[in-house]
Amino acid sequence: MPPWSWKELTVMSPVVEGDGGIILSNPIAGQRVEVEVNALLDLLAMQASGVEKALQLQEYLIERGFLTEENQLELLSDIEHWKKRGWDQVLDYYLWSHVQPARQVNMPCCNSDPVTDINIKRLTAPIDLPEDLLLGEVILQRRTIRRYAEKIIAEWQFSSLLWYGLCRLRNSINSERHHSFVAYVAVYAVKEVEPGLYRYYPDSHGLEPLALGMLREQVSRILFGQSAPLTAACTIFLAVDLNDYAHCHPGEGSLRGLFIKAGRFGHELLIAAGALGLGGLPAPALREREAEQMLTLQKARERILYTLTIGESQRRHEDGYSNACECSRPTDS
Ligand SMILES: Cc1cc2nc3c(=O)[nH]c(=O)nc-3n(C[C@H](O)[C@H](O)[C@H](O)COP(=O)(O)O)c2cc1C
Repeated sequence: MPPWSWKELTVMSPVVEGDGGIILSNPIAGQRVEVEVNALLDLLAMQASGVEKALQLQEYLIERGFLTEENQLELLSDIEHWKKRGWDQVLDYYLWSHVQPARQVNMPCCNSDPVTDINIKRLTAPIDLPEDLLLGEVILQRRTIRRYAEKIIAEWQFSSLLWYGLCRLRNSINSERHHSFVAYVAVYAVKEVEPGLYRYYPDSHGLEPLALGMLREQVSRILFGQSAPLTAACTIFLAVDLNDYAHCHPGEGSLRGLFIKAGRFGHELLIAAGALGLGGLPAPALREREAEQMLTLQKARERILYTLTIGESQRRHEDGYSNACECSRPTDS
């Protein structure tokens, strides 16, 4: 065995443009360097053969912190924690997006086109929100809700929640594409929508069923035992394709922008919920692996950023609260 080893989280990426070198990056060492392909191949061949030779590149990479003497390998328990959850890629993503446009090294966007409508259940048109409903009032009245009226919410409420709350995902409204984001919904108690897990398609305003069945207990467990899903009407999961996002939004501040956008989605969903007489619990904290299994995400690319559990507040229900939207709801609901 050679006396040195690659530092944890070292990533090698081919440079697509120009001379076609290899970029090595390591978020722990905080280093990113471009090396010649043949020099790197010599180094890797030497490592594989176990025969030590004096290679200039090896010395250079030791100096830059990419290679560590084997007897000095750190016990990176914190990194293990990240790796198990698949978040180690974010460290590299951050390093990349911070300085060098990710466009050069990441794969092209794969979510650019809306899927065909096969198997999508279209939701009814959203209601018009009353003109006299003030944004400020909705915001001031909003409070996080953890226990909901155990009540099936109307389909128009659910449809309008997704329509207004996720309006930024819709191509027709935004010049900027947001297809790197994907919304999943666990439906528990919505009229005319069978309980189960769905993917929401913003442009079609429809749902694709992924798994049918009651998921209250499972989502509660995923949210570290939060009780909100046990009485709520639905939980919305906002996921992002990290490679896609880095490709579409390269450069310094990319990751920061990603989190700000996720927060904005959360705000808009909560405001939409409030305007529709509903309320919610925002919670990004979740059991990553269980959530990824449930949503069958491509682990290497997609990450869940945020969850919002939404329903009607128990107090409003008990008070017989008449919400501001009732005047404009469809008569058949
Ligand atoms: C970004 C964010 C993260 C949150 N994370 C959690 C969480 O992990 N667990 C939890 O119980 N509540 C979480 N919450 C909900 C907050 O605890 C809740 O919003 C807070 O009590 C403030 O109440 P309010 O929303 O009524 O102002 C989170 C809220 C936000 C906005």
